[in-house]
Amino acid sequence: MRSHYCGQLGEALIGQTVTLCGWADVARNLGGVCFIDLRDHEGIVQVVAEPDNAAYATAAQVGYEDCLKVTGVVRARHSVNDRLKTGRIEVVAERIEILNKAETLPFYLHETPGEDVRLKYRYLDLRRPEMQRMLRTRVALVRALRRHLDAAGFQDIETPILTKATPEGARDYLVPSRVHPGEFFALPQSPQLFKQLLMMAGFDRYYQIARCFRDEDLRADRQPEFTQLDMEFAFVTEQDIQDFVEGMIRNVLKEVADIELPNPFPRMTYAEAMRLYGSDKPDLRIAWTFTDIAELVKGCEFKVFTDWANHAEGRVVALRVPGGAALSRKQIDDYGAYCAKYGAKGLAWMKVESRTKGREGISSPIAKFLDDATLQAVLDAAQATDGDLLFFGAGPYKTVCDFMGALRLKAARDLGQVENAWKPLWVTDFPMFEWDEEAQRYVALHHPFTAPKIDDIAELAANARIAVSRGYDMVLNGNEIGGGSVRIHNSAMQAKVFELLGIGPEEAEAKFGFLLEALRYGAPPHGGIAFGIDRIAALVAGTESIRDVIAFPKTASAQCLLTSAPSPIDDGQLAELHVQVRPAAKG
Ligand code: AMO
Ligand code: AMP
Repeated sequence: MRSHYCGQLGEALIGQTVTLCGWADVARNLGGVCFIDLRDHEGIVQVVAEPDNAAYATAAQVGYEDCLKVTGVVRARHSVNDRLKTGRIEVVAERIEILNKAETLPFYLHETPGEDVRLKYRYLDLRRPEMQRMLRTRVALVRALRRHLDAAGFQDIETPILTKATPEGARDYLVPSRVHPGEFFALPQSPQLFKQLLMMAGFDRYYQIARCFRDEDLRADRQPEFTQLDMEFAFVTEQDIQDFVEGMIRNVLKEVADIELPNPFPRMTYAEAMRLYGSDKPDLRIAWTFTDIAELVKGCEFKVFTDWANHAEGRVVALRVPGGAALSRKQIDDYGAYCAKYGAKGLAWMKVESRTKGREGISSPIAKFLDDATLQAVLDAAQATDGDLLFFGAGPYKTVCDFMGALRLKAARDLGQVENAWKPLWVTDFPMFEWDEEAQRYVALHHPFTAPKIDDIAELAANARIAVSRGYDMVLNGNEIGGGSVRIHNSAMQAKVFELLGIGPEEAEAKFGFLLEALRYGAPPHGGIAFGIDRIAALVAGTESIRDVIAFPKTASAQCLLTSAPSPIDDGQLAELHVQVRPAAKG
């Protein structure tokens, strides 16, 4: 239908006849001359129709977002438009065909309406050049990853979508079976077990751009269905896996977005990350770190501090905010309220106006509880200088990490103290298990197939609470972009880990019998990782939300506004599936 794309036209084509197809980005009739900005996926070009020209009558009828086919001659523009790539030329229309009129659109594409409207009319939202750019960034990313992996000898193998539960810590999406009444498939939370089985089958190196389904609380960086670059390797150590994928990420981000990542990536243990940043995915673009002060305040008169400083599971930390003394009381109180959302019972603070003035130079509601020596020791430990603000958190270790970690991110963003840089990181040495107070049992911090560092089964059982796993995460600018581990490849060890997780022998057999058996037929040592494609694409495209790099995403309440899914199904279908719907409990 066409000879060129709009965005490709330039001075080299002056004098030539071209045929273009696209949409009327702008259509205006200025004193007898019609101008149409014709847009296709390569860009925009100005089309002109003058009254003496055969296309004029049609041009005058063209409306906003009409779909057009235009034939005309390229000529130099009188007034060059430097903001347009094609701004040095225009196309003088000889024939305009309106392929399809557009009714009045629900929103104007040159503006960004509310997200609900954008999602309902996603096909219009995606016409916007910014959305086109972001989605194409994702396409380029996936293409580059595939090229890298194909060249390195990885086998791209599909795994089932209708399957059995593969636990990754979320709820399953379930599909009722018509032919097996009362039985259900689960959609995979990841291809985890299948990729392990592929290693046992001798494929050596596997990858898949895999869709995963998790019914969990959604946030800006989480969708109920999302895409992983899923990988597995046989006969490897964690170092082999990390070296390979680190090189892949470095090369691909350089190729796709000219991003320079350090070589090698820095590494940090989980314990160190929690100690310094209160997070297992620290944003290293922010220089601020925590200072533990429990030892210094153990004997002070502030009960909140002494309680937690003397508690075996407690933590007391200071966070130094350079220049923070300029914050108002209201701003400080707002941070207190923010921390409360993460479980803080309060947020103590200290403004350091002048260190040479001693106690007089400090303004703080808690300074009166600290004697001179303690006050100085705290200020020294936090390396406080004039103009700083210190925030203090006290409480259970995990809670303090959560709220002070969240505070660190928020305050640094508010104060413009996030470096404009790319900061990757490997986080290693995760705990094997986490104690779940509510369920009164251990849960796997990564997933139940992750190998412990301890090889000995009895030793693992005796030290479960402090056992460290062979898992690792890749973090980029405070986002967990990938996670993986070396796997358990011994059936007895796998059975023990299930047992430690409170999965009894019968349940283990029913849910994972196939895995336990497969591990007994000469399973090779193996391991792997999965990257969150949506998250990496969002980072590379420069957007905060992964929804911007997913063509048809779901809302925060897991709905598709475009198709109105999920939706009720008719009684006939329900009967066929042997499913009865219970009315939702009123809550
Ligand atoms: P994990 O659960 O860490 O590991 O997932 C791997 C990566 O997938 C991304 N991710 C998500 N992205 C968008 N929305 C979600 N709801 C979501 N959940 C996870 C993250 C994460 O780092 N089977 C293991 C991998 C392995 O051990 O090889 C797994 O799925 O970027
Ligand atoms: P209070 O004596 O409870 O009024 O608290 C005095 C100061 O300590 C206030 O600034 C509180 O916000 C702060 N505070 C209270 N509990 C904590 C806590 N768990 N961690 C840090 N600061 C706290």
